[in-house]
Amino acid sequence: MRSVARIPAVRREIARWRRLGHRVAFVPTMGGIHEGHLSLIRLARAGADRVIASIFVNPLQFGPKEDFRAYPRPRLRDRALLRAAGVDLLWEPGIEDLYPRGHLTRVRVRELEESLEGFARPGHFEGVATVVLKLLHVVMPDVLWLGQKDAQQAIIIERLVHDLLLPVDVRRGPTVREPDGLAMSSRNAYLTKAQRADAVALSRGLAAALSALREGEHEAARLRRTVQAELKARPAVVTEYVAVVDAKTLKPVKRVRGRVLIAVAARVGKARLIDNLEWGPR
Ligand code: PAJ
Repeated sequence: MRSVARIPAVRREIARWRRLGHRVAFVPTMGGIHEGHLSLIRLARAGADRVIASIFVNPLQFGPKEDFRAYPRPRLRDRALLRAAGVDLLWEPGIEDLYPRGHLTRVRVRELEESLEGFARPGHFEGVATVVLKLLHVVMPDVLWLGQKDAQQAIIIERLVHDLLLPVDVRRGPTVREPDGLAMSSRNAYLTKAQRADAVALSRGLAAALSALREGEHEAARLRRTVQAELKARPAVVTEYVAVVDAKTLKPVKRVRGRVLIAVAARVGKARLIDNLEWGPR
């Protein structure tokens, strides 16, 4: 695995792959690499000749009171994990590489950026969409791999790629979980032992909603209450939202008809955790 920081080095290597006729897959990350990221690398590996990953803790997608400075940056460990998973090229840009002095341009995916995570974290998805478009412009991959864990992010980037006519195939990998169900996240590192035990409420709540869906429950209000019951039972968990929305428009639904996204966000100690499930025909 080669590791580079500067954009010309990335472009040169990818141009070389292109001359060889290689199909290129890209997995962007913010580091703090865990099995969720590695599963995407393996999916990327299986469907392409060359895999490029990036690590960049993007300041633009963090709010002023969020954890940009505290965000885990275990670089040596990250590199070893990505190398072992089969990454060919690791791109670790500096802030000045992606944000040239005096930069003013921002990318917004209207409406989709305003609900759920976007409501809780104003400006977050503008930061995500802006950096992902920049990354795509440099890498120009055939395939972009994203995780279902961040469903709204995936939905927004899929729309961005569609709207801006980018020749990239966006694929989603399933959410990778700890044995007890907690979705893997770099932010799980913030949890104390007791908080870690309570954090299982998010996935438990979603699992309960899934059982209810399978038994024919279609009322959004009742599905939300099913998830909330699990969250309320855990003292360390402070719920931010439980939402049942259309999986394309992210608009709330009253009854489950087409494909829906059930999304949950909660604070557990210093960590802000999210999880979700999608259900219904694509
Ligand atoms: P990060 O949180 O590092 O996640 C990188 C990718 O890994 C995202 O596509 C995310 O959805 C996926 N991922 C994270 N946890 C996962 C899990 N438990 N199972 C499956 N996939 C998982 O998301 C970002 O970084 C940034 O916003 C980024 C897209 C890199 C832009 O800065």
